[in-house]
Amino acid sequence: MNERIKAGFAMTGSFCTFEKAFSALEELTHKGIDTTPVMSFNAAGTDTRFGKAADHIKRLEDICGKKVIKTIEDAEPIGPKKMFDILIVAPCTANTAAKLALGITDTPVTMAVKSHVRNQRPVVIAISTNDALAACAKNIGQLQNMRNYYFVPYRQDDADKKPFSAVADMTKLYDTVMCALERRQIQPMI
Ligand SMILES: Cc1cc2nc3c(=O)[nH]c(=O)nc-3n(C[C@H](O)[C@H](O)[C@H](O)COP(=O)(O)O)c2cc1C
Repeated sequence: MNERIKAGFAMTGSFCTFEKAFSALEELTHKGIDTTPVMSFNAAGTDTRFGKAADHIKRLEDICGKKVIKTIEDAEPIGPKKMFDILIVAPCTANTAAKLALGITDTPVTMAVKSHVRNQRPVVIAISTNDALAACAKNIGQLQNMRNYYFVPYRQDDADKKPFSAVADMTKLYDTVMCALERRQIQPMI
């Protein structure tokens, strides 16, 4: 029997990266992965120049064909019910990366990760932040050194104007997921 891979797709408040994240999510669904959307409070509740929160929620629900998990109580059963084979955080803010590195659980996304990793299943991180090579660097390093975490390859996006910024290459998300399911970090990572 060819069972579909079940993936959680968790978005956090790197709003400028949403378009690329939606495209990567569409690729996952087109390739047959059963995706369930999760959003942080900020991702689900903030209107910015990159779009309205309600439109982002609708878009996610249209792509996945499911309601967005956007409360801590709705994220809590993810582990107990073994809802996902893999959990993807794309985009992952510096804020969420710091919380994950420290074990802080106060958003639907950090709750989803905490609940999911109790089953020792893989988490994929697509980092996107202007301080990836500064204040966030130690947290990225810590996550890269933690069991069950895999990273979408990332790179500096504008070294002249934003010397500490780095973003994941969302076109590599699908391949990263397939490697992570085999417990391998896709290479090259940077
Ligand atoms: C327009 C806008 C763009 C932002 N872009 C980013 C970003 O690319 N990366 C990042 O780490 N934070 C970014 N932030 C800040 C986060 O949204 C903020 O740290 C928030 O607390 C993140 O919460 P979350 O991680 O729970 O989603 C942005 C904020 C705004 C308003």
